Amino acid sequence: MRFSSTALRTSLAATVILVLAGCSAPMPAPTNPEQSGQQYIAGPGATPAAPSPTQNPDGKPGKTAKAAKAPNCAKVKCVALTFDDGPGAYTEDLLDLLDTYQAKATFFVIGEAVQKRPQVLKDTASRGHEIGNHSWAHHDLAKMSLSAAERDLAKTASAVKQVTGAYPTLVRPPFGAIPGPLKKDLTTPIALWSIDTQDWLTRDTKKTIKAAEAAKPGSIVLMHDIHESTLKALPAILKDLKGRGFHFVTVSQIIGKPKPGIGYGTGLSPKGSK
Ligand code: NI
Repeated sequence: MRFSSTALRTSLAATVILVLAGCSAPMPAPTNPEQSGQQYIAGPGATPAAPSPTQNPDGKPGKTAKAAKAPNCAKVKCVALTFDDGPGAYTEDLLDLLDTYQAKATFFVIGEAVQKRPQVLKDTASRGHEIGNHSWAHHDLAKMSLSAAERDLAKTASAVKQVTGAYPTLVRPPFGAIPGPLKKDLTTPIALWSIDTQDWLTRDTKKTIKAAEAAKPGSIVLMHDIHESTLKALPAILKDLKGRGFHFVTVSQIIGKPKPGIGYGTGLSPKGSK
């Protein structure tokens, strides 16, 4: 713990609790997370925090496997497809679809799911996809103490390292919610999203396809590999975006050289849509 109790109280009082849409498991009946959410605006203009203890036990962000042959996103249209809450029952089929388009994606995994399906995670990493940390059990990190949230992410990072040999390169907090002190403490960059397909909410293949059509160069598209409707949407999404000249890359390839203490992506979700 790096905070005195007074400093911690002060920090917690100043905490901006970000409750945004984007993740489904495990969640109660859908509500509009934006009702209580504060808009999360961050980007390259924000000031990165100084390096400090991280959720990765060695204090360094993980390295992405097979980063070679990446397209130059400054010159060609790139989009980052991201899949949260796995590894799940549909992940392997999804990996096969991605391979047919030579597409790379980013998977923000849950520690408990990694324990359940280590081979799927291993396969995901070995096929050149980026692995991000999505917490141990999808609990809201903003509702935990700083030390508990750090332990949660560290436990998840260790589970990923044990399976893939590398720590996660990015963190995406469940619900996009991360308390200020934790955000400041993280040395692994935080990656949210710029397009929420709301696949977690609609569970509707056509609506997921339609939502992904909004992708623009540099978009980070939020989906979930735990829903069959998303798996069924993926062929049309890949075909559409490839037809529009997009290259499918990892989040780190979109961001460039992400810095700690910055939340990449708006983390915003459509309002009132179901
Ligand atoms: Ni999630």
